[in-house]
Order: sequence, then structure tokens, then C-alpha cells
Amino acid sequence: MINEKVENVLNAQINKEFYSAYLYLAMSAYFDEIGLYGFANWTKVQAREEVDHGMILFDYIIDRNGTVNLQQIDMPEKSFENPLQVFNKIYEHERSVTESIECVASMSEEECDMATRNFINWYIAEQVEEESNVMDVISKLKMFADDKTALYLYDKELKEREYKAHSYKL
Ligand code: FEO
Repeated sequence: MINEKVENVLNAQINKEFYSAYLYLAMSAYFDEIGLYGFANWTKVQAREEVDHGMILFDYIIDRNGTVNLQQIDMPEKSFENPLQVFNKIYEHERSVTESIECVASMSEEECDMATRNFINWYIAEQVEEESNVMDVISKLKMFADDKTALYLYDKELKEREYKAHSYKL
């Protein structure tokens, strides 16, 4: 059985992960519209990873004999200005997800739920990687500034990103 307070924050985290998927899909659609197909691919792959993040939490709650409580997913923003603005938004969003994950870790400790505290470590490490990946894109976009040729070549590079399923098993 899982502690009720911990169960609540895990359910809230499922919602945040699925919202993240929606947000990345909205960004992918924007990039597709402006012809940056590599950026569209990168954000679409990220959306699939976010669904995995949500599903891992879903499976974990079930494995702990808890109750999954799916909540309404907010509509994501859909008007964007340029790639740098989008990636700045992504960074801001991922920082908020990191804070949310840290709150799950903190709640697990407060409630002496060491299984969840241990489980959530995977997410803490994942957030370090995600923030770093986003900062990498931001640095490059700042470096290119208005150089369209560099942007074109970088877009081709981002097209190479492939989806790899994330999974979890107790
Ligand atoms: Fe699942 Fe991008 O955090």
C-alpha cells in the first residue's frame, strides 16, 4: 500500500508529464509549420518520452497497490515566435518539472516512503539530462543568431534524434 500523500503527488506528477507531452507536441506542430523538420522531430521524440515518464509513474502506483487518479490535461500554448523563444520556454518548463520531482522526493522522505524515494531517483537523474540537453540547444541557437545556413544544418542534425522507449520494472 502506498501513503496517501505520496500517492497524491505521484498522480499530480502523471498529469504534469502528460501535459509536457502535449506541450512538446504543440511545439512540434509549430516547427513543422515553419519548415524546421529536425526541430519538429526533436520535440516529437521528446513528447513520446514524456508519455513514457507518465506511464512509468502510472505503473509504479499500480505496483504499489495504489489508486491511479487521472486528471484533466491543460491545453498547451500554441503560438510561438522563433526556435530560441521555444527552447527558452522548454527550459523554463523543465525547471518547473524538476522542482515538482524534487517535491515528490521530499514528500516521500517526510512520509518515510523509501520505496518511492528510491524510485524517484530515476526522475531526478532524467531531469539533469533533460535540462542539459535543452541548454545545449539554447547555446547553439544563441551562437547561430540570425545565420540561416547554420540553422538549416542544425535542423538536419536534430532530425537524427530517435525515440528510445523508457521503461521501469520493480
Ligand atoms: Fe518528464 Fe521533461 O520531464
